[in-house]
Amino acid sequence: MATLAASSCLLSCLLVLFLSSVSAVTDDDKQVYIVYMGSLSSRADYTPTSDHMSILQEVTGESSIEGRLVRSYKRSFNGFAARLSESEREKVAKMVGVVSVFPNKKLQLQTTTSWDFMGLKEGKKTKRNPTVESDTIIGVIDSGITPESLSFSDKGFNPPPKKWKGVCSGGENFTCNNIVGRDVAFIHPLPAAGLLTEDFESLLSYLESADSPHATVLKTEAIFNRPSPVIASFSSRGPNTIAVDILKPDITAPGVEILAAYSPDGEPSQHDTRHVKYSVLSGTSMSCPHVAGVAAYVKTFYPKWSPSMIQSAIMTTAWPVNATRTGIASTEFAYGAGHVDPIAASNPGLVYELDKADHIAFLCGMNYTSHVLKVISGETVTCSEEKEILPRNLNYPSMSAKLSGSGTTFTVTFNRTLTNVGTPNSAYTSKVVAGHGSKLDVKIMPSVLSFKAVNEKQSFMVTVTGSDLDPEVPSSANLIWSDGTHNVRSPIVIYTSDY
Ligand SMILES: *[C@@H]1O[C@H](CO)[C@@H](O)[C@H](O)[C@H]1NC(C)=O
Ligand SMILES: *[C@@H]1O[C@H](CO)[C@@H](O)[C@H](O)[C@H]1NC(C)=O
Ligand SMILES: *[C@@H]1O[C@H](CO)[C@@H](O)[C@H](O)[C@H]1NC(C)=O
Ligand SMILES: *[C@@H]1O[C@H](CO)[C@@H](O)[C@H](O)[C@H]1NC(C)=O
Repeated sequence: MATLAASSCLLSCLLVLFLSSVSAVTDDDKQVYIVYMGSLSSRADYTPTSDHMSILQEVTGESSIEGRLVRSYKRSFNGFAARLSESEREKVAKMVGVVSVFPNKKLQLQTTTSWDFMGLKEGKKTKRNPTVESDTIIGVIDSGITPESLSFSDKGFNPPPKKWKGVCSGGENFTCNNIVGRDVAFIHPLPAAGLLTEDFESLLSYLESADSPHATVLKTEAIFNRPSPVIASFSSRGPNTIAVDILKPDITAPGVEILAAYSPDGEPSQHDTRHVKYSVLSGTSMSCPHVAGVAAYVKTFYPKWSPSMIQSAIMTTAWPVNATRTGIASTEFAYGAGHVDPIAASNPGLVYELDKADHIAFLCGMNYTSHVLKVISGETVTCSEEKEILPRNLNYPSMSAKLSGSGTTFTVTFNRTLTNVGTPNSAYTSKVVAGHGSKLDVKIMPSVLSFKAVNEKQSFMVTVTGSDLDPEVPSSANLIWSDGTHNVRSPIVIYTSDY
């Protein structure tokens, strides 16, 4: 079902690509126009280019159309680009078989603007650290890579640093180079661009009723999407079903219609037998590299930071997603801590740090057996009451608790520790901002944290009380630690059901 919609998107996206490949040329009174003629005729004797030339001869009245025809389009759709005067443009627009005529212009690819959207514009605000940038190793766990893709070219890159202990090991036909690590699995193209249900249904009934159905893909129009970002319907959502007291997802990043490297061995979508190096894709697999890129960006400023510090920096500096829509789709179970902000993440002020012992204490609290703990941690672990923690006391950058009933009064506490990674002699004051759902009463002890030195740690306790939780949506609040410069924000989410 989604395939039709996806291939129609693909067509319009390709149209944009084609249009942008023709340079804008203007004569004194002539301009390059795109004459769009819809789908290609299936008649065996139809030759698009000679048709285009005879149309041009007719509208210009010239037998030689040299210098007029810029390009014939004859693969995905029928049409041509030509230099025309205003009166010729009007003439050709009225001709039978011509759908539309529009001026050729250089278009920016909309799908390559996600770094601008994330706030990573080239300019003064965006700090760079070129020497470290070329010396950073990123591990991404995702469903597959094509090592031969141009996006993984290691041209200009040195071999990995000597201290790196990893190896490049792929399967058959897997080409290792200075960039590519290891094969993580298979490619899953996700055809997910959409028609509204009612549009799709009317399309379907037309397809079923017409003898020879025809469709036209019109010129793409850019619209400014005010309430963006909106979390896509196919985005992975919480609550976390394994560790119910750890909020998931963590973070939101661009993931819809992203221009992405594509395996030339695969096909862009069902029934599309072309082989392409790049395609327009949507899915969590598209958000994931954005976040991995942000993590790498933060790492270039703080090469010694652990993954948990970088994760904390990314989560506590995310900007709040517009949550004015109703229902579960507009809660932390859709967007987590919010939308990623790389510039803010490179200066978080404070971080929630976790080490291996914290994870073991958490897994002990999750009642993992010593056998499983050994498999996970690589060491023999004996859980004991002193060693284990309640799962919700894991020093995570968000706070969440699942309660067993909604009708009662409750009190939940969270213990957390912050590490100063900003400036020495800083004081942070806590502030709580209410979110959606039932009103939560949140107390922070102590309410001010003073740090004398960098890397100093300070602990605090969050006590959340309330009653009669909303059974439809999670109840939430935000804890913000602020020193006037940094705002270290953590969502607090209390919920009862699985929604
Ligand atoms: C490896 O490449 C060869 C030659 O292109 C091909 O015949 C073979 O099926 C490939 N193997 C895998 C596992 O893709
Ligand atoms: C948030 O979304 C609502 C509903 O879509 C919209 O009316 C509002 O303008 C948005 N607010 C912001 C700050 O974008
Ligand atoms: C672990 O076991 C204890 C004791 O049986 C129980 O109270 C607790 O709820 C369990 N924790 C989890 C996360 O299942
Ligand atoms: C949480 O912190 C408080 C105050 O520091 C402390 O008394 C309590 O023992 C801590 N609880 C846990 C489970 O660590």
